[in-house]
Amino acid sequence: MWPRPHGPPWEGGATSIGAWIYARPMASSQLRRAMSRSALAPLALFPKRAARVLRHDARVVAASARWLVTSREHHNYTYDLTALNRDHLAWFVAAICDVPVPVVRDYLAEIAADGALREHIRSATTAAARRGLADKQVRYARRLGWYAIVRARKPAHVVETGVDKGLGTAVLAAAVLRNAEEGHPGRVTAVDINPDAGYLVRTGQWSTVVDLVYADSVATLESLDRPVDIFLHDSDHSVAHERREFTTVESRLAPGALLLTDNVTKTPVLSQYAEKTGRRFLAFTERPARHWYPGDGIGAAWHA
Ligand SMILES: C[S@@+](CC[C@H](N)C(=O)[O-])C[C@H]1O[C@@H](n2cnc3c(N)ncnc32)[C@H](O)[C@@H]1O
Repeated sequence: MWPRPHGPPWEGGATSIGAWIYARPMASSQLRRAMSRSALAPLALFPKRAARVLRHDARVVAASARWLVTSREHHNYTYDLTALNRDHLAWFVAAICDVPVPVVRDYLAEIAADGALREHIRSATTAAARRGLADKQVRYARRLGWYAIVRARKPAHVVETGVDKGLGTAVLAAAVLRNAEEGHPGRVTAVDINPDAGYLVRTGQWSTVVDLVYADSVATLESLDRPVDIFLHDSDHSVAHERREFTTVESRLAPGALLLTDNVTKTPVLSQYAEKTGRRFLAFTERPARHWYPGDGIGAAWHA
């Protein structure tokens, strides 16, 4: 076999123009500068750009293929967040709850170490009638932030609209139970229109602090008889429904209440509502680890 020539293409080498020019800074700096100012610049860099986007797309395709054979989920996907994203989440929670970031990191470590909650979710999933549509592996994603927020703010009443299996509700309940151990009892009202929702919070100690309501979320918010300290929208994600939930819950909020949305990467409803009502607003965006889904986020609005 003849050795493969590596010179520039115009000398019979196998290397692309772009790769040749950009791989030899000493030999080609003048040519590179001239090329980068010429009409040929896009052509010269095309192979490098194509390789970069193909590498990225190949990673997404590999993650998608892995997920298709290993996961059973068909919506409301679960995944872990990257370590960097978890740290950004800690800073986000610290900002909206006005607590030092090491305190938030301790809360995140606390739920990560909660083996009882993890085991309960695993066994309730295994026992559920709809287990064929759920993964046994427990991955909280942005719900870690919900946990830390409830730990930091010690609310007496949390309302979550949209329960699905009850993963978020279980996480909120775990935080409420820890707060109770520290002398700050509370309850979670969790609302879903689907009577099959919430199977993760029908048993175990977590169920003792959860009131599951099977009804439309707006109708339920209208009939609330206790002030709400933390409100989380995670039900029908249409703009109209999300907006209706925030306007309906307004008159039921306790002083200093915190508004959260799970829909922040899809609609500007909460940021617009915050501006209209003189609240502050911040958004956190998820970075899932090893998953094809680009992630959701947490939107938060509160009075300074
Ligand atoms: C994204 S899931 C909730 C996810 C859940 N919070 C979690 O942490 O995994 C959305 C849920 O909203 C419920 N939903 C849709 N429209 C609703 C409505 N008008 N009122 C109450 N729940 C509703 C659906 O039945 C579904 O279970």
